[in-house]
Amino acid sequence: MKRVITYGTFDLLHYGHINLLRRAKQLGDYLIVALSTDEFNREMKHKTCYFGYAQRKELVEAIRYVDLVIPEESWEQKKTDIALYHVDTFVIGDDWKGKFDFLKEQCEVVYLPRTKEISSTKIKQDLNH
Ligand code: CTP
Repeated sequence: MKRVITYGTFDLLHYGHINLLRRAKQLGDYLIVALSTDEFNREMKHKTCYFGYAQRKELVEAIRYVDLVIPEESWEQKKTDIALYHVDTFVIGDDWKGKFDFLKEQCEVVYLPRTKEISSTKIKQDLNH
């Protein structure tokens, strides 16, 4: 069984997220989403979420492409996660292109093209106008 992992916040779930998760699942048989915790978002990614971790987790778990959701609590956990969950492929949107090439010594690394013109930030901005 080929195992795939991806990381992200997935706040205000939108079609760009679904596109990403669908293509991620197509790379293997079992998709793990490491979902950024509220604290990690706040302290490390400088992001404030609309939905809290428990709500985002419920939403992401409800997506048919997703098999397991685990917390993302630090930048450094990727190597440990990949070993622990016997991950074959690490995948993420190409806004991160090149940033995780150091994982290539452990598994395949894939950057998928982002869906154009949608993001959680854009939704928040549009709703504020
Ligand atoms: N993603 C994507 N296409 C988009 C938006 C996001 O492929 N239009 C991907 C990202 O590249 C990442 C995953 O979805 O692999 C989770 O991204 P996240 O940062 O949670 O979503 P954004 O909408 O980019 O959120 P923000 O605006 O807060 O950065």
